[in-house]
Amino acid sequence: MVDFSEFDTRGYRTVDVTTGYGQWVGSYEQTVEDVMDIALLDDLAEPRWSAVARAADLGCGTGRTGAWLRRNGVTAIDGVDLTPGMLAVARSRGVHDRLVEADVCATGLDAGAYDLVIASLIDEHLPDLRPFYDEAWRLGGPGATCVVVAFHPHFIMATGMPTHFTDASGEPVAITTHVHLLSEHIMAGLRAGWTLVEMREGVVDEGWLAVKPKWERFRHHPVSAALVWRKHS
Ligand SMILES: C[S@@+](CC[C@H](N)C(=O)[O-])C[C@H]1O[C@@H](n2cnc3c(N)ncnc32)[C@H](O)[C@@H]1O
Repeated sequence: MVDFSEFDTRGYRTVDVTTGYGQWVGSYEQTVEDVMDIALLDDLAEPRWSAVARAADLGCGTGRTGAWLRRNGVTAIDGVDLTPGMLAVARSRGVHDRLVEADVCATGLDAGAYDLVIASLIDEHLPDLRPFYDEAWRLGGPGATCVVVAFHPHFIMATGMPTHFTDASGEPVAITTHVHLLSEHIMAGLRAGWTLVEMREGVVDEGWLAVKPKWERFRHHPVSAALVWRKHS
């Protein structure tokens, strides 16, 4: 595994996930860019979202991913997150049937109960991807799809930038960030039993530069990735 500290060019004070998202929650939705994850979800050929009977939204945060799922025809969604403040916003949004405060690697949700397991923008917070893919496998029923949208390891390495936010005092604060090579995703998913059926990489393009003009020097660098897995029975 690759250690983020070898690439860190920012040197921000670093806090754990629940501390960080607990402080970021008030401005999270104004700072996370849809081009990072929503644009990739929009481009996926799989799965047929409206055919999903029940989804598990792991690392659901404030419900952005859940809201996208609803807009695309998914009617039953359970969410899991570690950060109470993020869950509180998701609760007020009302797109989930059930919200659970738990680790995505040990959700406590029912085995085999979901035909979609989705995790968007959480992989860099997991020290090891294997327990995550194993838990997703446990949750998926026969023929289930698992969709993972990841912070691209190349971008973390090239920019030296962790996931971070600006706190109430104006200080930039990092949230514990791990670098996962794409091969770590592939091997952890395969080891759990999943079959990869689709993969996309989002690059810094005109859409990105419209919201982040200062990223011109990263034009055409990959910044996020989406992996679509299937549970073949
Ligand atoms: C960048 S947000 C993504 C939220 C949402 N999926 C979205 O795309 O807006 C990451 C979320 O993952 C949660 N998280 C990080 N590590 C987690 C873990 N091990 N178990 C559960 N939730 C976790 C954080 O609390 C946070 O709400």
